[in-house]
Amino acid sequence: ETDEQLEARPPVVTVMGHVDHGKTRLLDAIRHTNVIEGEAGGITQHIGAYQITTTVDDEERLITFIDTPGHEAFTAMRARGAKVTDIAVLVVAADDGVMPQTVEALNHAQAADVPIVVAVNKIDKEGANADKIRGQLAEYGLVPEEYGGDTMFVDVSARQHQNIEELLDAICLTADGALELQANPDKEARGVAIEANLDKGRGAVCTVLVQSGTLHVGDSIVAGVAHGRVRAMFDENGQSVSEAGPSRPVQVLGLSTVPRAGDTFLSTQEERTARQIAEKREAADRNAQLAKRRKRVTLESFD
Ligand code: GTP
Ligand code: NA
Ligand code: MG
Repeated sequence: ETDEQLEARPPVVTVMGHVDHGKTRLLDAIRHTNVIEGEAGGITQHIGAYQITTTVDDEERLITFIDTPGHEAFTAMRARGAKVTDIAVLVVAADDGVMPQTVEALNHAQAADVPIVVAVNKIDKEGANADKIRGQLAEYGLVPEEYGGDTMFVDVSARQHQNIEELLDAICLTADGALELQANPDKEARGVAIEANLDKGRGAVCTVLVQSGTLHVGDSIVAGVAHGRVRAMFDENGQSVSEAGPSRPVQVLGLSTVPRAGDTFLSTQEERTARQIAEKREAADRNAQLAKRRKRVTLESFD
């Protein structure tokens, strides 16, 4: 891909950490929203994706955020989040400290070779000890800059909206310093399905993250074994959009069936091509399953 027209694209930032350490509330503080109030039991059970604008050094900057659940049951979603991201924000509650899913999240990020920015949250709480968190995370290789390491730590309070700008600055610094974030917006879209479900009225609803190219309403797409034509697209606020470029998360309507989270998607010139790719993938899936079953039968006959 040498003669491609690469352009700067916004960083994709996944927010990870132990359950209830304040990931969603932190994103609410960043976005001036209140997602947390609508969550059953205050537990995040899906992946949320949002793009925001911030100003750094008088320059408007876009950042795409992906919220992940911290509950131990959702390991797969955390792993998926770490795979599609450029930067991980590891949220640790200053009154609770490093917990099992804190470690799991940082392991996912390190395995994916993704730079980590630590947000030490809930510093407004009694018993908050931000220094202790720094010491704990240093043991996992996240040595704070102020201790001579290269990990940025930002003490925040999602509740009191403290140091939110500083956190956004740290994210932009990390994006500028360590990463070459580029993509060609002028070609057929490619990306990944980050979540999908079947809606009674609207059919298959799939949130995709466009990683390169631009997705338009009317495009033919294939996502996993699902295919179709994009009937409508919506942003994180439910606003209808007609196109989505690199690093943009959008909700897509129009797929024949519900793709699996983590499936890659691509748009094609012809609807027929999308259908053919989907059918090929489906046949490959079927063959793999048949082979597995045959193997099982063979093994059983030896018992
Ligand atoms: P899961 O997605 O379920 O893993 O939780 P989460 O990490 O998204 O945490 P969430 O945002 O749901 O917050 C958990 C609880 O901590 C809620 O009651 C929040 O109001 C509270 N909380 C979050 N941030 C802060 C903070 O900075 N200070 C205080 N005092 N409470 C906070
Ligand atoms: Na929660
Ligand atoms: Mg949450």
